[in-house]
Amino acid sequence: MKNAELNQRRLDATPRGIGVMCGYYADRAENATLWDVEGNKIIDFAAGIAVLNTGHRHPKVVAAIEQQLKSFTHTAYQIVPYESYVALAERINQRAPIDGPAKTAFFTTGAEAVENAVKIARAHTGRPGVITFGGGFHGRTYMTMALTGKVAPYKLGFGPFPGSVFHGQYPNALYGVSTQDAMNSLERIFKADIEPKQVAAIVLEPVQGEGGFNVAPPEFMQALRALCDEHGILLVADEVQTGFARTGKLFAMEHYAVKADLITMAKSLAGGMPLSGVVGRAEVMDAPAPGGLGGTYGGNPLAVAAAHAVLDVIDEEQLCQRAQRLGQHLVEVLQHARETCPAIADIRAQGSMVAVEFNDPATGKPSPDFTRQVQQKAQQEGLLLLSCGVNGNVIRFLYPLTIPDDQFTEALGILSRALAQ
Ligand SMILES: Cc1ncc(COP(=O)(O)O)c(C=O)c1O
Repeated sequence: MKNAELNQRRLDATPRGIGVMCGYYADRAENATLWDVEGNKIIDFAAGIAVLNTGHRHPKVVAAIEQQLKSFTHTAYQIVPYESYVALAERINQRAPIDGPAKTAFFTTGAEAVENAVKIARAHTGRPGVITFGGGFHGRTYMTMALTGKVAPYKLGFGPFPGSVFHGQYPNALYGVSTQDAMNSLERIFKADIEPKQVAAIVLEPVQGEGGFNVAPPEFMQALRALCDEHGILLVADEVQTGFARTGKLFAMEHYAVKADLITMAKSLAGGMPLSGVVGRAEVMDAPAPGGLGGTYGGNPLAVAAAHAVLDVIDEEQLCQRAQRLGQHLVEVLQHARETCPAIADIRAQGSMVAVEFNDPATGKPSPDFTRQVQQKAQQEGLLLLSCGVNGNVIRFLYPLTIPDDQFTEALGILSRALAQ
């Protein structure tokens, strides 16, 4: 089967709304390598959009799924529960940066985790309002579209959206938005849109993912925590993309002196299996009445087995430390490239959550064209890179943290050549 033939079948059989980036089709994959149906080898720096921090088919993850396959694949946890779900919740409760006793509930997708965090926050506070940030991405369901701070392509043609959702400004040093500006934008919301006592939650990504890998400054997180404490608002960290060792910590919130009340997780939690969750302060998590949370597939036993293996692998292979080391190396390569690539406007990193932003050197305006060129050049040499950013002018790096050193070096060589064009 050839890529071109499959592409034609795709166009005939599936709607264009499911936008597809690559013109080739996956055949098999191992750690950081993908092979397409024509036998081409690709170094995978997309990792299923941040899902494969432990790589494709990590042997321990595969073994855990195989083992679970032999017992049962589904009972619906809410009908017939199983120990592995409880044990995974215990492990997450112990390790998540939450004040006091914590509880965890599992779901299937990232959007579902965020939806449920909002449900829990509203149930706990009895308030309707939710504040999120421009450039943020929280999913494609109705509530998470409302929370998302980027219109095209996520919200185009889909309104109306659920109400009581307001967007503040996320700090962005490159575009001159300071922490104070961001906090002022929240004050404006309190003046123009909703009184603070009606706000259930402030939801933010500690590092904006789709929005361009913008890192929340420590003083911003602290100011948000103080604001939340002042008004009885819950602070919700959406760690769907930042979670599970990517930033050099299991959770990105561990980089901050303050804690969130609720944290959402998904993606790399289960190494390629669909699993998401919400961890939070026990009393907050217990606000919804029995039956108010859940879903047929939430906490699927195969996915839960995979997540246990992922946590083991993160510890055994010291992936948090490795994320720091690989990230530093990549940043050095990007800084070196900057000397000859004037389009590089910014390099941002927290651990291995690394991004490079491109502007037109002549105008200083965002350059999605240059970004696409870099992506295409890398692609020609077999390196899969993802873009992001509100203006599509950022390349983000999401390689498996288990990538072998020599392959990482090979990929950085391709990247350097792509930037030198
Ligand atoms: C921060 C964040 N929240 C939520 C989501 C939605 O997750 P999913 O696509 O699994 O629904 C994403 C997906 O990219 C994300 O990056």
